[in-house]
Amino acid sequence: MILGVDYYPEHWNPALWRADADLMRQSHVRLVRLAEFSWCRLEPRDGAFDFGWLDEVVGLFAERGIKVVLCTPTNCPPLWFYEKYPDSVQTERDGRKTATGIRGHRCLNNADFLRYADRIVDVMTRHYAGNPAVVAWQIDNEVEANFCFCDTCVGKYRNRLKKKYGTLEALNKAYGNNMWSGEYSSWEQIKPPYGSYPYAWLNPAYMLDFCRHASEDMVEYLLRQADIIRKNCPGVQITTNAWFCSNLPNFYEEFAGLDFVSYDNYPTTRLPDDPEECYSHAFHLDLMRGVKRDNFCVMEQLSGGLGCWAPMARTPYPGMIKGYSLQAFAHGADTVVHFRWRSAVSGAEMHWHGLIDHSNVPGRRFEEFRQLGEEAKKLLAIRGTRIQSKVAILYSPEDDFAFRIQPQTNGMYYLEQPMLFHAAFTGCGVNVDVVSPKADLSDYRVVVAPELYLTEAAVVQSLYDFAEKGGTVVLTVRSGVKDPHNNCIMEPLPTAYRKLVGAYVEEYDPIGYDKESIVYSDGSVHPCRQWCDILHPEGAQAIASYQSGFYQGKPAIVQNRYGAGYAYYVGTVCTKSLYGKLAKDILRQAKVPFLEGLPANVEVTTRTGEGLEARFMFNNTDKVQEFDLNGEHVTLAAFEMKIDLKR
Ligand code: GLA
Ligand code: ZN
Repeated sequence: MILGVDYYPEHWNPALWRADADLMRQSHVRLVRLAEFSWCRLEPRDGAFDFGWLDEVVGLFAERGIKVVLCTPTNCPPLWFYEKYPDSVQTERDGRKTATGIRGHRCLNNADFLRYADRIVDVMTRHYAGNPAVVAWQIDNEVEANFCFCDTCVGKYRNRLKKKYGTLEALNKAYGNNMWSGEYSSWEQIKPPYGSYPYAWLNPAYMLDFCRHASEDMVEYLLRQADIIRKNCPGVQITTNAWFCSNLPNFYEEFAGLDFVSYDNYPTTRLPDDPEECYSHAFHLDLMRGVKRDNFCVMEQLSGGLGCWAPMARTPYPGMIKGYSLQAFAHGADTVVHFRWRSAVSGAEMHWHGLIDHSNVPGRRFEEFRQLGEEAKKLLAIRGTRIQSKVAILYSPEDDFAFRIQPQTNGMYYLEQPMLFHAAFTGCGVNVDVVSPKADLSDYRVVVAPELYLTEAAVVQSLYDFAEKGGTVVLTVRSGVKDPHNNCIMEPLPTAYRKLVGAYVEEYDPIGYDKESIVYSDGSVHPCRQWCDILHPEGAQAIASYQSGFYQGKPAIVQNRYGAGYAYYVGTVCTKSLYGKLAKDILRQAKVPFLEGLPANVEVTTRTGEGLEARFMFNNTDKVQEFDLNGEHVTLAAFEMKIDLKR
């Protein structure tokens, strides 16, 4: 494992640089990320570039054997630029320009911004081309699929629709625009969602295309920079750092043209009081590995208590700094870069704590980081080893968009069911991949496909084929509901999946915050929430039925033989207890070996290399855990990671 830090030389007196670099070296830091917000120092005046300070810093690190990731600084153009080109600032839904003074204000399609961004990226990458200390480039910072409402962006959006639909007739038909007299008779009538209506009030087909457009725009922006970097630095590795923002992009498309995935990982420092809450970040880590089905990098990792725009949260509990970092490694991150070396003493983020506090006196957290450095050094040998999984969970950005556009019922959000299944399978000690519904499924034995809301023919086919050949598919509520345009399908649910699951939905009850209950096949009773599909089997077998509600006695979960495999349909949303049992029963039926006896929130993953297997056991709780596992007695301190190497 390569350990790194995010460092901001421009925030510190240069007198500190050397001491910082020395201390990094002593604490086994091998990588430093630099410069993502430093445009005003790299180009203090229009066309006048200054790389002197950055050269000095890169040089200090290089002398100490520390590599750097350089960033294109395009997240924050200097204020002289905005002064000259006020139109380059994003436009809000109400038509007003975003107020500058924070960061990320630029319109990604504005011609002046792009000209200046191209220029600094070009000059900077030519300046550092061939520098052996620079191992990768990060494009911009946490780029989002922003909704900019300026005329340029609107024009681009219309052009995309023209290209996609060809004619207004086709577009009107796809959106079902005869509703509320919404049919377009000219392209100019197509407007982005101006105003302040909740998105759920707008046509869901129109909104889905708008989300797709924002994501595609962002991808185009990334590729534009990637082209310049590749031209000037052939062969260099290029990435950008992703996070789960509200303007979510399609992660698969975001990284398709880049070399590796980077992710900003801030697990919670306060464990929730409600044991039903999924707080582990393992799901997100597995998802990031699944984006390119490859090992990835954590470009920002929790280092201290968080706070800045929000009130300050708890400081990491002893063991968290080290444990969470190793957890990322256990899920396929080969590099973990901690944000940030030292807490800023100025600016809005001064309370987002780094490894070293404002005092510049290394304390408890830094000591833990130093120990992590020792461990990371030992783990260098297993860098590049892979996670091989027999279980996959499908994550669909488009279904995520569609759920955000139209909340289904109180309390329901797209990611919860994937996370519940993930926690259940991880709790059985098996590796879990989180991959695209379009992924090749042939490596897996079990594929969980929660909430396949938008129905895509290729995905439907792939799941039927998978079961036909002996795989086990698990579907849930809200599957097959919409066509690819986000319109409802005039067939009983789960429409295209009806044959696969051997049942249809007679009626559904979106119970939101209310509770009902089910009885599982072993007689255990489990509360269910949010949603109840009343199932009508057509060949499938009920493995759980409702114990309450007017549908008492009706099937809630069914299992169906399909081809050489099986399909399950989980027609409600339950508590963790049910998913735990279901996961074990599914693994047994699919003949996937698993571990019995893991306590809740103890995670086991395995990385495999040539003649080498590393088993990671992580206690993601603040209590000591003691348990027996296949005859072995295990004790784990709070947030302890135990790594067993077998050669
Ligand atoms: C994000 C950003 C960082 C910083 C941190 C903490 O992850 O990428 O620049 O703002 O949040 O606030
Ligand atoms: Zn714009």
